[in-house]
Amino acid sequence: MRVLVTGGAGFIGSVVVAQLLADGQEVVVYDDLSKGHRRAVSAKAELIVGKLEDLTYLSSVFQKYKFDAVMHFAASIEAGESMKTPTRYFRNNTAIPAIEEGRRPGDPAILVASSDKIRLELGWKPQYTELGAIVSSAWNWFQRHPNGYVD
Ligand SMILES: NC(=O)c1ccc[n+]([C@@H]2O[C@H](COP(=O)([O-])OP(=O)(O)OC[C@H]3O[C@@H](n4cnc5c(N)ncnc54)[C@H](O)[C@@H]3O)[C@@H](O)[C@H]2O)c1
Repeated sequence: MRVLVTGGAGFIGSVVVAQLLADGQEVVVYDDLSKGHRRAVSAKAELIVGKLEDLTYLSSVFQKYKFDAVMHFAASIEAGESMKTPTRYFRNNTAIPAIEEGRRPGDPAILVASSDKIRLELGWKPQYTELGAIVSSAWNWFQRHPNGYVD
């Protein structure tokens, strides 16, 4: 399979890329390197530097490669930063412009947005399940670590 991994230069995406390659899949990474690192992407994967918002470029990438699957990990995730610049985070994570049109050659057949597999296969369970507790925990952590993971 040929798989597109958005955010594949980031923490989660780069591990997924390594696992896909180990499984014998062909991998293309699409990442703007705003937070990710070029060296995190295995040399066996192709890295395309681009922004999700750049629909013209993204479309050309889809047309060129005809992916069998897309795994989407490009997002802004730092709790502390999200409280300082919430609109930027909101835009990057939810307001990505999208074009509605019919299926094109190369479009993946199935869209899955689920964390079920990580629960089933790795036994992962969230420590907090209520939104208030999640926000409160993130806020408390940020108070203790004003510079994020640097501390
Ligand atoms: N880190 C965790 O523990 C964790 C746990 C569960 C879920 N997740 C989810 O996994 C996803 C990735 O998280 P992560 O920890 O790998 O974050 P990360 O910041 O390490 O990686 C995100 C990657 O996306 C890229 N990116 C961000 N915005 C982009 C844009 N507009 N266009 C192109 N590239 C862009 C960044 O450069 C970076 O390489 C997020 O949706 C996050 O919520 C993370």
